[in-house]
Amino acid sequence: MNIVNVDYDGLIPNNVGLNADTRVKAALEKWHPGYVNWWHDMGPEGFQQSLVYLRTAVSVDPKGWAKFDYVKMPDYKWGILLAPEVEDRRIPFGAHRGEKAWQEVPGEYRAMLRRLIVIQGDTEPASVEQQRYLGKTAPSLYDLRNLFQVNVEEGRHLWAMVYLLQKYFGAEGREEAEELLQRRSGDADTPRMLGAFNEETPDWLSFFMFTFFTDRDGKMQLEALAQSGFDPLSRTTRFMLTEEAHHMFVGETGVGRVIERTSAEMKKAGITDPSDIDAVRRLGVIDLPTIQRKLNLHFSLTLDLFGNEISTNAANAFHAGIKGRFREDKLDDDHRLENGTYPVLRLVGGKIVKEETPALSALNMRLRDDYVAECAAGVGRWNKIIEKHGIAFELKLPHVAFHRQIGEFSKIKADLDGNVLLDAEWEKKKGAYLPSSADRAFIESLMKPEFRPGKFASWIASPKTGIDNKPGDFEYVKIAE
Ligand SMILES: [Fe+2]
Ligand SMILES: [Fe+2]
Repeated sequence: MNIVNVDYDGLIPNNVGLNADTRVKAALEKWHPGYVNWWHDMGPEGFQQSLVYLRTAVSVDPKGWAKFDYVKMPDYKWGILLAPEVEDRRIPFGAHRGEKAWQEVPGEYRAMLRRLIVIQGDTEPASVEQQRYLGKTAPSLYDLRNLFQVNVEEGRHLWAMVYLLQKYFGAEGREEAEELLQRRSGDADTPRMLGAFNEETPDWLSFFMFTFFTDRDGKMQLEALAQSGFDPLSRTTRFMLTEEAHHMFVGETGVGRVIERTSAEMKKAGITDPSDIDAVRRLGVIDLPTIQRKLNLHFSLTLDLFGNEISTNAANAFHAGIKGRFREDKLDDDHRLENGTYPVLRLVGGKIVKEETPALSALNMRLRDDYVAECAAGVGRWNKIIEKHGIAFELKLPHVAFHRQIGEFSKIKADLDGNVLLDAEWEKKKGAYLPSSADRAFIESLMKPEFRPGKFASWIASPKTGIDNKPGDFEYVKIAE
């Protein structure tokens, strides 16, 4: 079997030799109708019959792994694709460092591995559910297509995790695979597993913030799992990361184009004071302070996904060789962390202080720090756009203690700079920190669909280049009546 090229003949495209693996093939084929039902019920509403110019993975060759073509989303080829096997791969960290990577689940780590795969798997369909109504208000066909691309790939990521569950976890795995189709984002009785995936994505600025901030958490988790000593998990997540890069591109350029449009219109109208919100909104664009409040919300919700700063689960997963650090293979230390320390921001006597903590227990914190650094770089690029138009405004990431529900700072209220506030002060000030209902209503008032090829809604600039080098007026989605 050719690992680089994908077998497209059967119901499920794959490069894992599914035809020869009758047990897993049967399990996946049994799961397939439920998945398609889920897609019809919870996938993009109103566009199932439209032809969408999508990329589909046809290979795992980094030089050319995708092809672009028009496809109806329910007919998308959701496949199972693993990155090529690394010859003689060794477990890169933890107590088993240097041993041969596992091709089967080690019995002692079975429960831990299953849990990690299920949590990752649960986020994939969740975001599709969160975004299912956005198509109706897309600011352009280009953006509509990007939304759907992200959606079908999140669907494929669910397939990726379900394959691991069904191949390696027997009856329990099949049960988990079923449950992944049963939970629903935001449902009171059967919610998705993680908080940020039960929030609404009510408008396109939220969507772009979500793909910038929350998909980037996904990327960090996948990076940590790509280091795993359990080789099938490593290979699966490595390929998912190639797709994930586009999701973050959608987020960063999406927010960037909103900022570009606002800044350009302000300049044209001669508005120099970014806090003159009414004047800016009259131009039909989103004012910068509101963009900042949206950023504050999505950043803080996403930080919660990293879990507790001090975590025995994270320590155990690392020690076991199951979940590594961001770019573990590029780090220069003993990769066991039994003696080292790592600085962690903690709440001590009501104050936020930095404390040296055993490195093994601080792995969530460390991954979060790597994440925050990437976010900060992106925000820096957004600020360049504002600066280019000569407007005196700077977007900032809030302090990590701001608006937290999980971890050290969930017990306190903090402002954007990390000053601890009394509850009464918080109540008074939070309207300045987080989107208000008036902000939401204003953004909603702008969410009118623009479905003419090459046209864009008033509040967002056009992209610099098309997808797959297509010209500006390309019809990315042929909307079915
Ligand atoms: Fe994903
Ligand atoms: Fe994603």
